[in-house]
Amino acid sequence: MDSKISKIGVFTSGGDAPGMNAALRAVVRASIYYQKEVYGIMQGYEGMISGEIVKLGARSVGNIIQRGGTILKSARSAEFRTKEGREKAYANLKKHGIDSLVAIGGDGTFTGLHKFYEEYSVPSICIPGTIDNDLAGTDYTIGYDTATNTAVEAIDKIRDTAISHNRLFFIEVMGRNSGYIALNCGIAGGAVATIIPEESITLEELFNKLDEGGKTNKKSSLIVVAEGSKLGGAMELASKFSARNNYFDIKVTILGHLQRGGTPTYFDRVLASKMGIAAVEGLIKGEKDVMVGIRNNVIVYNSFDTIINHIHEIDSESLRIAKILSI
Ligand code: F6P
Repeated sequence: MDSKISKIGVFTSGGDAPGMNAALRAVVRASIYYQKEVYGIMQGYEGMISGEIVKLGARSVGNIIQRGGTILKSARSAEFRTKEGREKAYANLKKHGIDSLVAIGGDGTFTGLHKFYEEYSVPSICIPGTIDNDLAGTDYTIGYDTATNTAVEAIDKIRDTAISHNRLFFIEVMGRNSGYIALNCGIAGGAVATIIPEESITLEELFNKLDEGGKTNKKSSLIVVAEGSKLGGAMELASKFSARNNYFDIKVTILGHLQRGGTPTYFDRVLASKMGIAAVEGLIKGEKDVMVGIRNNVIVYNSFDTIINHIHEIDSESLRIAKILSI
């Protein structure tokens, strides 16, 4: 069934993620394939409010599949959280004749889109784009694979210098509420311990483990800490451990926004391409107020209620593997 949509607005919102451009490209080309007009909204909800909206064609998205960041730019809009902001946004969509939306972003983006749908009934679909991989309803979000590979590459480099100087490094990776990046970097980077928000290890347990290593003459170690760790960030943990450690020379590296940039991996490009097409096909079939996901390699459409306030559980097998290997 072809629903009555004819002009699709597309935007990227929230923290950027590698692969957002590949998703945009897929949305634009699929729209054209299905003979729909497509408009790019600049800077997420901010551009919807200010009216910064441009018509896109197949060539507008040439040479971007391999580029990090987002050519549409991104923002976290405070104004869109207000009724007045959303009113202005709706007026601008009407002005351009835009009758449906595809948003590429994380939970904040989907929350805004849902609110807008409740108020103005504009058929809309969210594509999960965030390095955190913290959205329920999908095995992977766009950008997570690239960010994790970037972090592992950095960790490998830190390992070289850690070993040369017999040092203990606390390495902080991104993930405000989610330990996906940290856990898998910990496994792939050979960390002696990985601290994530989802798991409750105590400071004492962590320090005892590090002490054991010191006593058994372990010369260097890497500890990966998720930004959202409840025990504190890498700086705090390092300074607390320094106070009682007699074995290691301790250093800290915070990888930060380096993880958000760079060329998307093949995995993120393919995922973004599949999800971009699924978003347009979903709108055409009459899906609305949903987020695209991928489960066991099959595209799914998730309602708002099944995503927001649900946790993308860390899989217990990865936790088990990390434990077995970190001795
Ligand atoms: O949500 C993605 C993310 O990179 C988080 O891991 C991090 O906590 C946050 O965004 C940082 O946001 P900002 O770039 O606005 O400081």
